[in-house]
Amino acid sequence: MQIGILGAGNVGGALGRGWAKAGHAVRFGVRDPDGGKERELLAAIARDGGDAAATSIPEAAAFGEVVVLTVPWEAAEDALRHAGDLAGKVLLDCTNPFKPDLSGLITPEKGSAGEQVAAWSPSAKVVKIFNSTGANNMGAPEFPDGATAMLYCGDDRTAKETAHRLAADLGFEPFDAGPLHQARHLESFAFLWVSLAYPQKMGRDFAFRLMRR
Ligand SMILES: NC(=O)c1ccc[n+]([C@@H]2O[C@H](COP(=O)([O-])OP(=O)(O)OC[C@H]3O[C@@H](n4cnc5c(N)ncnc54)[C@H](OP(=O)(O)O)[C@@H]3O)[C@@H](O)[C@H]2O)c1
Repeated sequence: MQIGILGAGNVGGALGRGWAKAGHAVRFGVRDPDGGKERELLAAIARDGGDAAATSIPEAAAFGEVVVLTVPWEAAEDALRHAGDLAGKVLLDCTNPFKPDLSGLITPEKGSAGEQVAAWSPSAKVVKIFNSTGANNMGAPEFPDGATAMLYCGDDRTAKETAHRLAADLGFEPFDAGPLHQARHLESFAFLWVSLAYPQKMGRDFAFRLMRR
């Protein structure tokens, strides 16, 4: 599958590396594709035998059958504007609308970052996913007790099937959490992970699993 990732930081880099390793073609949409900031990431992917490159944001968005939003929440509207027309594409929203000092969430007008992203990109099929665990776990979702759960939500069934497959390709155990209005709960769930990792000093090497009887 062709995947365009907007951003190549902690989250974009981990997801892109994992997907390239799984055989997907990845383009990282960045503000300065010739600046060399992604050199180490691209070299690591090349060592794994993966297909990846850094391009402009519109080029990555045009390349992707799936477009993945991995920029800070404050930059999300700007990045989507630069991405251009996402009509018919699956748009995976990984953002978390956290206050910069991590003291809480900045609840967007539309109830959640996921719904706000859908309002900014009305022709895309938005799935909220890859926001609720640390980027370190996105590169290594397997734990001795099993795989990290990856909850997702959205309103388009086929887009959610694609998101599910892409999460499984990385080694997550994916779960459908319902329609896109559930995004606010996934964003609060992400805040719980962060508050355990930092204020509660658990560190980043833990993840949530979902069990069923
Ligand atoms: N870190 C985590 O563990 C984690 C986990 C789950 C979800 N999230 C969420 O995922 C998102 C990304 O987090 P991150 O930790 O990966 O951030 P990061 O490491 O700071 O990377 C952010 C990326 O976005 C780019 N960017 C910044 N402003 C931009 C703009 N105006 N237009 C286009 N690109 C822009 C940056 O490019 P430059 O290098 O050019 O600045 C960089 O490639 C955030 O919304 C965060 O809440 C993070």
